[in-house]
Amino acid sequence: MTTETSILEGELQARLQPIVERYRGKRGAVIPVLQEIQGVLGYLPRKALIFVATELSIPLAEIYSVVSFYSQFSTVPVGRHRLEVCTGTACYVKGSHQLLEELGEKLNLEPGQVSPDGRLSLATTRCVGACSMAPVLKIGEELYGEFTADKIEQLLGSLARREEADRE
Ligand code: FES
Repeated sequence: MTTETSILEGELQARLQPIVERYRGKRGAVIPVLQEIQGVLGYLPRKALIFVATELSIPLAEIYSVVSFYSQFSTVPVGRHRLEVCTGTACYVKGSHQLLEELGEKLNLEPGQVSPDGRLSLATTRCVGACSMAPVLKIGEELYGEFTADKIEQLLGSLARREEADRE
């Protein structure tokens, strides 16, 4: 084990090692490895990225460029519902920064934070390809166009009902 990989604690290494082993020596491994690790941990902490870089002999900078290019990846913990405000140009012009601020106040979260109960997290994202509906809020794979902060209570209610239905 190298010094770099030893930054992982035993349990974490035990969970990630089988994933990297499946992709060792394979081309195009970075994205699927990161997807699997994010599936296990919920996000991609720096030490996991260093572990992947070291184990698969890929420059850490290359891994970071993949992580920052694809909005599906997050290097910060995320809630069960990840609320992402688009800050692309069209959304910016339509007030996405104000939306982000208002959502932050209503949810008591800064961008990059997760609520104490782990249900919600707030983040920004680059253009999600729905500029005609700006400003856009993205939750998981769903897009909510022309979104304003006063719609948040209704949206939180529908997320809660969905969670309840999932539990039944
Ligand atoms: S800029 Fe927000 S969807 Fe394109």
